Amino acid sequence: MEQFTYTAQPARIVFGSGTLERVADEVARLGRSRALVLAGEHLRAVGDRVEEILGPLAAGRFDGAAMHTPVEVTEQALAVLRETGADCVVAVGGGSTTGLAKALAVRTGVDQVVLPSTYAGSEVTPVLGETEDGVKTTRADPAILPETVIYDVELSAGLPRPLAVTSAVNALAHAVEALYSPDANPVVDGMALDAIRHLARGLRALDSGRGRADLLRGAWLAGTCLGAVGMGLHHKLCHTLGGSFGLPHAPTHTVVLPHAMAYNAAAAPEAMRRVAEALGTADAPTAVFDLIVEAGGPTSLRELGLAEADLGRAADLAVGKPYPNPAPLTRDGLAGLLRRAWAGERPAGGAVSTIDALTAQVVATFAGTEDARLGALLTDLVPRLHAFAVDNDLTQAEWQQGIDFLTRTGQTCTDTRQEFVLLSDTLGLSSVVDVLDNSRTPDTTPSAVLGPFYVEGPPELPQGADVSAGLPGTPLYVDVTVTDTDDRPVAGAVVDVWQSNEDGFYDVQLPDLDGPVLRGRLRTDDGGRLRFRSILPSEYPIPDDGPVGGMLRAAGRHPYRAPHLHFMIDAPGHRRLITQLFVRGGRYLDSDTVFGVKEDLVVDFVPRTGPTPDGAPVAGEWRELRYTFRIATTG
Ligand code: BEZ
Ligand code: FE
Repeated sequence: MEQFTYTAQPARIVFGSGTLERVADEVARLGRSRALVLAGEHLRAVGDRVEEILGPLAAGRFDGAAMHTPVEVTEQALAVLRETGADCVVAVGGGSTTGLAKALAVRTGVDQVVLPSTYAGSEVTPVLGETEDGVKTTRADPAILPETVIYDVELSAGLPRPLAVTSAVNALAHAVEALYSPDANPVVDGMALDAIRHLARGLRALDSGRGRADLLRGAWLAGTCLGAVGMGLHHKLCHTLGGSFGLPHAPTHTVVLPHAMAYNAAAAPEAMRRVAEALGTADAPTAVFDLIVEAGGPTSLRELGLAEADLGRAADLAVGKPYPNPAPLTRDGLAGLLRRAWAGERPAGGAVSTIDALTAQVVATFAGTEDARLGALLTDLVPRLHAFAVDNDLTQAEWQQGIDFLTRTGQTCTDTRQEFVLLSDTLGLSSVVDVLDNSRTPDTTPSAVLGPFYVEGPPELPQGADVSAGLPGTPLYVDVTVTDTDDRPVAGAVVDVWQSNEDGFYDVQLPDLDGPVLRGRLRTDDGGRLRFRSILPSEYPIPDDGPVGGMLRAAGRHPYRAPHLHFMIDAPGHRRLITQLFVRGGRYLDSDTVFGVKEDLVVDFVPRTGPTPDGAPVAGEWRELRYTFRIATTG
C-alpha cells in the first residue's frame, strides 16, 4: 500500500484581480494595526498605493530589500520596524522583498502579508535564505511562512515579458521536481499537476490577462509544492550555477529544467508520464524545451555567461554533495547534461540524451545490490562501458566482433589454459591490480603477477633438491633468504617455485612430459635460507595460439616474457608474497608482454664455473642466484 506523510502549511490565500485593494482588510483580519510597508525596486508606486489603502494602518516604509537577503539590510529594516512600532509587515515585490519580510518575521514574530509580483513562489514556503559576509545560509521554520498572501493578477501582469517567462519556468521546476521527490504525496502531486497545467497554459498566452492569471495561479501552487517537499537535481544544479558562477536565478532555471528532466526521465517514468500528460504531450523534457523556445526564453547557459571552461568544475561541484534524486548522479552524466544545456541543445530527441537516460536506468538497477562493494563497482563500471561505446561511436558489427572475441576467449579456457588471465595480463590489468593490492610498502619485495602456470599443491621437495629433474639447460644454483621487514630471518616459510624449461614451456604445456617438473614446494631453514638447483630460465612466448595471441598480432606486439623464476612465499603471521625474479641482461626486460617487470626484481644470475657451493661438480658454466625476499607481517 502506498505510504506518505503530508504537513499542511497554514496560510491564507487571497487570489484574484485587483485584490491589492483588500490589503487593509487583510491586515485588520490578522488583528494588526501598524504595518511596515516593504516595496521592491520598481514597485515604489505600488508601495505608495498600498500605504494609501492602508491609511491609518500604515506605520512606515522600507524600500531597500536586496537580492539574497543580506543580513545588513535586514538590520536596517529591523531598526525601522522598531522605530515605527510596527506589528506586521506588508511586502510588495519579488523574492527579495518576500525574503526581507520573512527575515523580519523570524526575528520579531511580526505577521506578514505578502503581495508577490513574480512567480518565484517563496511567499508560500517556510524557508528563508540569507547572506552574511557573502556566505549563504538557509533555514526552515514555521514562523517564516507568511500568514497571508494576496495574489493580484494585475500586479504580476506588470512583470516584463522576459522576466515573466523565466520566473514561470522557475515555478514549473518546483512542480516537476515535487512529483519525483522522495516526500511526494497525493496532495502535493495534485497541486503540482495543476500547477503544470496552469503554467503551461499561461506561458502559451503570456500577453493576455488570462495567461497572466494562469501563471500566477500556477506559481502559487508550484510554490506550495516547493514549501512542502524536497527538491532534486534541477534545484541543486541551479544553486551550483548561481552560487559558484554567479548565473542569474530564474534564467538558469529556465535553461536547466528540460535537461534535468531528460536526465531523470528514465528513472522517474511515472512522474514524467504525468508531467507529459499535464502538458498534453508525449515527451515531457522536449515539450518543456519547446515551450521555452516558443515563449522566447533563454535556452543555453552560454548566453547566460557561463564559460565553456567552467563546465568541468560545475560538474565536479554538482556531483560533489550527494542528495536524493531519481537518477543516480554520475560525473559523466552531469557533465553531459551541463554541456548540452550550455550549448542550448534540445534534450531527449537526440541519441545522446537517450543513452544518458538508459545508462541511468541501468545504474539504477544496482541500487539494491546487497553487497555494497559489488554495487559500487557495477555502478561505476556501467557508465564507463557505455561511455566507451559512445565516445568511439561503436558499430553493431564491431561490438559483435568484441562478443566473438570474448566468446572465443572463454572457449579457449581449460584446466591448464586460462585465456582470460592472459587477456588481463596482456592488457596490463593484472599488473595494475597487483600494484594496487600488493606492492604498497617500499620496504618489502615488490610482487608480480601470478600468471596462468601456477599449479596448486606442487610436489614437496627437500632443501638442495634439483627442481629441474635433470632437464637440459644452463645449471642454476639458487640461494635465497626470506626475512621480515626488520631483516629477521623467517624460518619455515613455505616457498613454491615454478618456471619454464629451456625452450620456454611449462610442464603443463607439455603433455608428454612425466611431470610435475620445474616446480616444487620447499621450506626455509632456521636461518630463513633456501637452496635448490635448477636450470637458467629463458624468455618465452605466452601461449599465443588463441584469441589473445590474435590480439597481440593485430597490434603488432610480440608475445614474449622476459626470463624469470616464479616464487610464492607463505609464512604464518606474514602476508603472502607472489613475485618473480628476472635475469638481468635477459631479452624483453623492457617490453615484457604482460608488463610484469619491476626494477627491484631484475637481479644478477652470476656466471660461475667449478663446483656449486654444495660441492656438486659442474661441467662448464653455471649461474648463481642469491637474493633476499623481505615480506610483511600481517596486521
Ligand atoms: C608467467 O609468467 O607464467 C605468465 C604470466 C602472465 C601471462 C603468461 C605467463
Ligand atoms: Fe612465467
